[in-house]
Amino acid sequence: MLILTHEKYLELIKELNRHATLYYQKDAPEITDADYDRLYRQAQDYETSNPLLASSDSPTQRIGDKPLTAFESFNHPTPLPSLGNVFDQDELIAFHDRAVKGLETEQITYSIEPKMDGLAIAIHYENGQLKVAATRGDGKSGENVTANIKTIRALPHTLTKPITIEVRGEVFMRKSQFAKIADTFANPRNAAAGSIRQLDSRVAAQRNLDVFLYQGIYDGIETHAEMLIFLKELGLPVNPDVKTATSITEAYSQAIQFETDRENYDWEIDGAVIKVNRFDYQDRLGFTIKAPRWAAAYKFAAEEGITRLNDITVQVGRTGVITPVAELAPIKLAGVTINRATLHNMDEINRLDIQIGDTVILKRSGDVIPKIIGKATRADDSRPFQMPTHCPECQHPVTKEEGEVAHKCNNVLCAARIKGQLTHFASRKAMDIDGLGEAVIDQLVDEGLIHTYSDLFVLTRDQLLALDRFADKSADNLISALEAAKTNSLSKLIFALGISFVGENAATLIADHHPNLEALQSVTEESLIAIDGLGIKTAAKIIETFHDPAFQEEITKLRSLGLNPQHQIITDGPLSKQSFLITGTLSIKRIELESKIKALGGKIASSVNKQLSYLIVGDSPGSKVEKAEKLIQKEHPIQIIDEASILKMINL
Ligand code: IVH
Repeated sequence: MLILTHEKYLELIKELNRHATLYYQKDAPEITDADYDRLYRQAQDYETSNPLLASSDSPTQRIGDKPLTAFESFNHPTPLPSLGNVFDQDELIAFHDRAVKGLETEQITYSIEPKMDGLAIAIHYENGQLKVAATRGDGKSGENVTANIKTIRALPHTLTKPITIEVRGEVFMRKSQFAKIADTFANPRNAAAGSIRQLDSRVAAQRNLDVFLYQGIYDGIETHAEMLIFLKELGLPVNPDVKTATSITEAYSQAIQFETDRENYDWEIDGAVIKVNRFDYQDRLGFTIKAPRWAAAYKFAAEEGITRLNDITVQVGRTGVITPVAELAPIKLAGVTINRATLHNMDEINRLDIQIGDTVILKRSGDVIPKIIGKATRADDSRPFQMPTHCPECQHPVTKEEGEVAHKCNNVLCAARIKGQLTHFASRKAMDIDGLGEAVIDQLVDEGLIHTYSDLFVLTRDQLLALDRFADKSADNLISALEAAKTNSLSKLIFALGISFVGENAATLIADHHPNLEALQSVTEESLIAIDGLGIKTAAKIIETFHDPAFQEEITKLRSLGLNPQHQIITDGPLSKQSFLITGTLSIKRIELESKIKALGGKIASSVNKQLSYLIVGDSPGSKVEKAEKLIQKEHPIQIIDEASILKMINL
């Protein structure tokens, strides 16, 4: 162990704090994490041998060592108000009009900042030292959470100036951090609140919380924007996205911009806060009973809401998987009314710990399908959901294989499975059969007219006309759509067959190595495994499916009915023996470029490896570029080219 003098120890502490600032606030570390850890341990060692000489400034002091039994309450010397909400442009303009009236001027500059979805905190520094931190509580008094706040690494314990100041801000958890502990909390806000209210600060320390300060109580500064600069100079973390605007319309567009960018931040925001910039104006406007007249929260369309879980039903999919579905009391989220959400499987229901009758937290972010993210409250009459023991469609026993999460109906003749398979078969990316949607399929199956894919192609016009959904024209249309589907490519047909794990990409790969269905009927596992990009699990599933005599019979039937696409395998062409891989976004469709390359004899690789000839790089490429560069350094002849070059190569 390195023996330090006290003087050297104090220098070490200074150095550690300097590196922490560089890392957390300036995003410009000078040393590696490992080097930081080494210095940190030296400080720790010194403190273990000389506990009485440990500095309160030491980064080791960020973690308290004894859990508390309860939080003390803390009276805020100046109360923490909340904000009035506005929900649209008109309400924001009304807020502005009131300010104009109160100030008797139209010239108002506003500060616009993201409204962080976390938990409000007030932190008191005395002579530059962090003394107390407390939650907002009811605004008048909160809980003294100093030990936990001290674990936030972005927050200095000592300011750059020895001043006395109260600062306020929002404690939050980054989305990237939340992703690591997602099972414990429903959302990052709950995670932040739950972690700050941990009695054991060692636990709080592990949660890696973060904070942005947005207010300072300190004389001699004239505007909010200048205050934020001052806070930064003190070494305090401030949201990097704060903007100013000289009119309310500009403020509104900025708020909308935040809403558009919402998904791109590593923290959750639920609105924009618009504040009158000048402090003398703020003072003149003052407060209503509840909130300041100089600030407003423009709330984004809610992405999260609480609703009752009325029931859990189940759906039988085309592979027999039984999926529990939440039947919800209708709720509007981000402008869309939602009354159902998938619960995936029994494990998910157990993980969420939800029962029928509970109120649950539902989230819909961006274009993502709505998801139940947790339980809000349990009702007295809530009851646990039980997976049915028999398939609700065909009464076959429901089974669950060892090591699998899904419950399944294993009856291949189950009407629900058949309907699911046929719907997939007819869907746009598969056989693309116009006029053969779910409702028509339901009727055809229920009437016993079809059981398998091939049955579709022997349907007659008269059979269709006998059903209530069909008239002359629609029957003719379906018959010709079925006729047209016979000319679909081999890859579309393979995808349509609905073999587990065989998506569009795998279907294309398989088609690229086989001339027709007949060849596939005698396919071997070895030849499938040899296909670059096709997984072992997928290969095994394909073999298992083709070994099923019923499936073989079905393929033979399809062939005899004229579904027998031939695929030309091109081995000889200007691009033969060359392999290509695309990363990032291109201006043309990836699949289009890939098929053109293949048509010229080129191969599409599945990953960057020594055999790769060309890496085609589009916008926002992934880590593949780095990987390729590493291989190039090792003298593998990979060429990195852009979209224009490949288009030129293939004359597109
Ligand atoms: S200013 C008097 N600025 O929103 C002004 N609040 O609804 C006090 N919040 O309790 C608040 N981000 O927890 C302000 N940039 C921001 C904010 C923000 C989040 C929270 C804060 C407050 C709540 C009010």
